[in-house]
Amino acid sequence: MPAHYSREDLLAQRQALPIYPVRQKLLEEMRKHQTLIVIGETGSGKTTQIPQYIFTHGMTENGTIAVTQPRRVAAITLATRVAQEMGAQLGTTVGYTVRFEDMSNFKTKIKFLTDGMLLREAMLDPLLKRYSVIILDEAHERTIHTDVLFSVVKTAQKRRAEQGNNKLKIVIMSATMDVDHFSLYFNKASVVYLEGRQFPIQVFHAKQTQEDYLFSSLVTLFQIHKDAPADHHILIFLTGQEEIEAFAKSARTIAKDLQGKYPNLKVCPLFANLPQNQQMEAFNNPPPNTRKVVLSTNIAETSVTIDGIRYVIDCGRVKARTHMPATGMDILRIQKIAQAQAWQRAGRAGRQAAGFCYRAYTLNDFEKMAPNPIPEIQRCSLTTVVLQLLALGVQDPLNFDFMDKPPTELIEGAMRELHLLGGIQSTEKPVLTEVGQQMAAFPLDPRFTKLILASKELGCTEEIVSIVALLSADSIMINATAQREQANNVRAKFASSEGDHMTLLNIFRAFRTAKQNRNWCFENFVNYRNLLYAVEVRKQLAELCERMNIPMKSCNPQTEPVRRCLLSGLFLSVAEYQREGHYLTLGSRQTVAIHPSSVLFHSKPSCIVFTELVQTGKRYVRQVTLIDQDWIEELPKDTLLQLRQTFRGTVSGPHRK
Ligand code: CDP
Ligand code: MG
Repeated sequence: MPAHYSREDLLAQRQALPIYPVRQKLLEEMRKHQTLIVIGETGSGKTTQIPQYIFTHGMTENGTIAVTQPRRVAAITLATRVAQEMGAQLGTTVGYTVRFEDMSNFKTKIKFLTDGMLLREAMLDPLLKRYSVIILDEAHERTIHTDVLFSVVKTAQKRRAEQGNNKLKIVIMSATMDVDHFSLYFNKASVVYLEGRQFPIQVFHAKQTQEDYLFSSLVTLFQIHKDAPADHHILIFLTGQEEIEAFAKSARTIAKDLQGKYPNLKVCPLFANLPQNQQMEAFNNPPPNTRKVVLSTNIAETSVTIDGIRYVIDCGRVKARTHMPATGMDILRIQKIAQAQAWQRAGRAGRQAAGFCYRAYTLNDFEKMAPNPIPEIQRCSLTTVVLQLLALGVQDPLNFDFMDKPPTELIEGAMRELHLLGGIQSTEKPVLTEVGQQMAAFPLDPRFTKLILASKELGCTEEIVSIVALLSADSIMINATAQREQANNVRAKFASSEGDHMTLLNIFRAFRTAKQNRNWCFENFVNYRNLLYAVEVRKQLAELCERMNIPMKSCNPQTEPVRRCLLSGLFLSVAEYQREGHYLTLGSRQTVAIHPSSVLFHSKPSCIVFTELVQTGKRYVRQVTLIDQDWIEELPKDTLLQLRQTFRGTVSGPHRK
């Protein structure tokens, strides 16, 4: 981030934002209403400016302003920026709190935090008394945590009003939104629209339905490239890393053939797992007579703004996580976007001048799309949320005041899983057990907390805490397609014949032996930032373990305890090899295959436990460890019984042939 602006520069930048002329009106509305909804395009100044306006107009006398963000990186960079604009040292008047990191103190008046962190705070103080204003930002993203917070803050506001003192103001901010839906939920709250800088955009649809949206996007790219001026840059929405890398390769090859005839073409991938210095390429201005083409996942849809984009090519798809309550598993798969997303993507072409959007789908396809995306709460696993609701004192999660109610099966599935993990006494009367309370205290998926709790008895907490930390971080290995072979060769020394979790642990140990050296990471094709993050997470988890009297015992050089431990928390993710060459999951009898990136891809052990399921045509499991079939029979009797009942007769037990 460019950090060296003078105060005058910063002030000039602030005054040039679209929000600046309407600041008085905004403040007036804030004074009149307890709840306000603010709609404005990305970049209009909502997140950085509104908290400052509120602060300088004395609405924080009785408390702090909380500003939530779905992503931790956003919370950190925004706090840094606002501190800079206010000439404050980060962590004092302006601060942030994200999972595993707190940069705020009791004097903090503007606090950026992830939506998950605010929810954790609500578990300790449901009225959120230390805040006078709560801003729920990026509401259009509808993350699970934001959705739960909608109700939590609404309830806190009502109860604080009943108590008469220390009233709570709520601001909901969003780039695009189904405004009426939100306003209605918040008792007809008033809405302020910010005038964005939006220029007209011409939208073109494909004439026929495109089976191969990648190919048609590639053709469109070069049609534009032949005619448009060099400084009219292009943004292409694709679904994920592999697709983006393959597309980049084709585009670069074609561009090479065309060299000299047209402007140069600079191809910049953009996805969350890309190392930061490479991500920055997408934001930098290219050299003269060079067109930039950014290949992005949906992170460029609302979260970031790229200068100079005049053309958007939209493949019409997105990779999204969906939970299958029938199997208790999450899958990551490619699906069609919603109309609201299609408009948002198109809008990216008209930020600085009139633009064009080419859709790789027909008008008829567009009309068949859902108007709005399905919020996470209606499609993701609710195990963590139900656990949190119970910890918040909600007695009946089925009748919680959700803005959009999740399907009953999702809530029931969550209760079943919590019961299987020993977190609640029964699914009919969901009361937290001691284990459940411990699970609520750990900032982890309950299955991973279960691993840590189980590691105590098995004497492998040292290893399990590292593995859980590594799984909490984004991808540890760097797998650029171009260097895949080289990377695999270099990393072969870390590979464990027992699976990917042990392999990750080997990398982690080597990283620490190498004194967490950045160059070492570079040489070994592993992600430095993500490993550092894992170190940090590990430290925090170790502290939590200490508080809960779980000693940091190690079983090194043995590995069996670690693998047994993985089974004890992840018994829903066990699969057995079948004669036909694939695997069947234990509970739900799903057909899966080991992903080619796994160290066990070639060895095909008879029984495995995994931590990730992805669907790309085929169902693949990633992060796989081999276990002993006999261990399954050693699981607690009631766990096995419940597993069978959960999947009603579909499980024939470990004895089946
Ligand atoms: O929230 P909204 O998208 O409406 O805008 P914002 O996040 O307040 O950003 C307004 C402007 O501040 C951006 O267009 C950037 O110019 C600047 N900004 C920045 O330079 N660095 C950041 N970390 C955040 C914002
Ligand atoms: Mg914002």
